[in-house]
Amino acid sequence: MKTATQTTLHQSRNIERIVQGVATSDGAGVSLTRVLTGKLQRRLDPFLMLDAFGSDDPDDYIAGFPDHPHRGFETITYMLAGRMRHRDSAGHEGLLQNGGMQWMVAGSGAVHSEIPEQEEGVMEGFQLWLNLPAKNKMDKPWYKDFSSEKIPEYTTAGNVTVRVIAGSSNGVAGAMTRETTEPLYLDIHLPAGAIFSTAIPQTHNAFIYVYRGAVQVGDMPVEAQRMGILSNTPGADGLTLSASEDARLILVAGKPLNEPIVQYGPFVMNTQEEIHLALDDFRNGHFA
Ligand code: FE2
Repeated sequence: MKTATQTTLHQSRNIERIVQGVATSDGAGVSLTRVLTGKLQRRLDPFLMLDAFGSDDPDDYIAGFPDHPHRGFETITYMLAGRMRHRDSAGHEGLLQNGGMQWMVAGSGAVHSEIPEQEEGVMEGFQLWLNLPAKNKMDKPWYKDFSSEKIPEYTTAGNVTVRVIAGSSNGVAGAMTRETTEPLYLDIHLPAGAIFSTAIPQTHNAFIYVYRGAVQVGDMPVEAQRMGILSNTPGADGLTLSASEDARLILVAGKPLNEPIVQYGPFVMNTQEEIHLALDDFRNGHFA
């Protein structure tokens, strides 16, 4: 457990808009909710996608995500509960489970699979896609697994527990730091009656997604299974939220790239030509 230095904010961001995710299916038939869809990629630049999955019905997850490619961005998988085996074309393998996280930089291309290693019980978590700047899209792919114990955590005087997946919050540095987009990714657990504040750089686009209970930002409630896009209010230096019931949410923020976004499924580049090249490279077996 790390020691936090509680930041005093001058002004909190507000909720600009509440977004309800879209139920969909991906991989070989995994049921999930796409919270951040293509339509929000510009508004929430540098984030491209957020999927929330959570079910105790094996039919919803058992098929997993067999071999598939990625190019041009990073994927961050955070498992609240469950066990998922990861394998990639470069021969790497890892087990992602209960509270653990995997950060993958697909860069120039990786082919990987994500297959559940459980036949019953709950599987719950998130996959976030973070864009890479044009200059890094063709970097060599790599990834890092973090077991739950490797994710720095702090508890405030008001008993709010915060897991710092990326960036830093109230003086506690997270498991990952990335240049250019400088992502902040927190998993925040509030007991009923708690208030919590954290700084968010004014340059960043930011959102919260509540996965248990409900929170309030100013006088705006955000219920479970809802995303609240945070306003880019000039002068607002962070976020203050409160909970009248036990609540859990993720807070995600990043510095926009302001570059063209051209997506074709698992490839996200800057131009149509680069997408054609990605498809050719994949078909010709040139991915790592
Ligand atoms: Fe993937």
